[in-house]
Amino acid sequence: MPATDNVRIAPAEGKLGVLIPGMGAVTSTFIAGLEAIKAGWAKPIGSLTQMATIRLGKRTEGRSPRIKDFVPLAGLNDLVIGGWDIFDDNVYEAALKAGVLERPLLEKVKEPLSAIRPMKAVFNQDYVRRLDGPNVKKGGTNMDKARLLIEDIENFRKSSSASRLVMIWCGSTEVFHRSSDVHSTLEKFERGLESDHPEIAPSQIYAYAALKSGVPFANGAPNLTTDVPALLDLARDRQVPICGKDFKTGQTFMKTLISPGLKARMLGLTGWFSTNILGNRDGEVLDDPGSFKTKEETKLSALEYILQPDLYPDLYKHFDHVVRINYYPPRGDAKEGWDNIDIFGWLGYPMQIKIDFLCRDSILAAPLVLDLVLFLDLAQRAGMKGIQEWLSFYFKGPMTAPGLYPEHDIFIQLMKLKNTLRWMRGEELITHLGLEYYD
Ligand SMILES: NC(=O)c1ccc[n+]([C@@H]2O[C@H](COP(=O)([O-])OP(=O)(O)OC[C@H]3O[C@@H](n4cnc5c(N)ncnc54)[C@H](O)[C@@H]3O)[C@@H](O)[C@H]2O)c1
Repeated sequence: MPATDNVRIAPAEGKLGVLIPGMGAVTSTFIAGLEAIKAGWAKPIGSLTQMATIRLGKRTEGRSPRIKDFVPLAGLNDLVIGGWDIFDDNVYEAALKAGVLERPLLEKVKEPLSAIRPMKAVFNQDYVRRLDGPNVKKGGTNMDKARLLIEDIENFRKSSSASRLVMIWCGSTEVFHRSSDVHSTLEKFERGLESDHPEIAPSQIYAYAALKSGVPFANGAPNLTTDVPALLDLARDRQVPICGKDFKTGQTFMKTLISPGLKARMLGLTGWFSTNILGNRDGEVLDDPGSFKTKEETKLSALEYILQPDLYPDLYKHFDHVVRINYYPPRGDAKEGWDNIDIFGWLGYPMQIKIDFLCRDSILAAPLVLDLVLFLDLAQRAGMKGIQEWLSFYFKGPMTAPGLYPEHDIFIQLMKLKNTLRWMRGEELITHLGLEYYD
């Protein structure tokens, strides 16, 4: 008997507009890849929505459709993209500067990439000290700027003929700041926008504009952004899904693969030293201690949550965890992430694990942008609002309901994501109990 959906999911009809604040390395790599995939020159490698299957029912049933055939996602040909940046380079020029992709591929996608030129950004150098650019909205209060962003969103909606929109922050990492009184209610936040309150960051102005416009918002950077009561309330009031934060790509991705394994085997940890060298613009921004602090917070938190030192004091109570990012221009986007992991086993005997991940940041991040855009749109059409914890899979610092600790273990995150999709479509959740096979 076919399953009945637990939620009503509106069909993915018409175009899906993708609005991106920050059109640098990640964004240009995402868009170039999308064009290459649409043209049939590349496969969507790294994208769960495009490549992964989902098992339904019992193992004996042999039902494993692709995720994209199981839930109604927007098609790649229906995506239309716009965005903002403080530099006015079109996406082709931005891709050339980012230096992630090779010239022959970029020449092949030059036309569609050159056609996307960033709108004027809302920017405040207090939040990204290492950058300054000419393509910014000038004059007026932050509330005036929020209104201009709302206008940009509506103009894009019309000019692109999009029937639905999503916004995903791929802008720089902002300086560390905490939720404060001005973020505590929507009313105070709006007064803060009027008075240019210094604790309101540009990413929060974009998020406010998106949520006010009923547009789902994902945060690819570790910025505070929507992690404040005023914007969480706004998302729920407007029935808009949100998720974040900080794409889980290179080193933290490795951490969330290795540490659940160590814990599964009850092996102890005395220390985890992580260092990175990277030379792209992101690396330059993170060279500023204020922006690095924001990144450090999300990078450090994963291990604590996965290893649960309070539950396992003999194994994890006093481990040292150090994370460094070194800006080293010759490397460009081809980052190198080293990990030295000091562990101990039976009778406390020490052992070491060394990882040297020669990764490419934007190559790892681009498919996550695609998946997040498609899943957020699905969530919106399914009437799911507020924090989408099932999308934790994609983030270094998953957003959760206040008072709830985040789930960092990538395998639990994947199970949660797939069970959410099964739940949406009224399929049985998979518990991996499996006793029935032996009855
Ligand atoms: N690549 C990865 O693996 C990865 C992983 C996790 C998080 N991130 C985060 O994603 C973001 C993008 O990374 P990237 O490598 O593309 O960086 P990038 O520096 O190449 O691009 C960021 C762009 O944002 C623009 N920008 C900054 N402030 C802006 C504003 N207020 N409005 C509009 N544009 C603004 C910058 O001009 C720049 O072009 C960074 O915050 C990074 O930390 C990346």
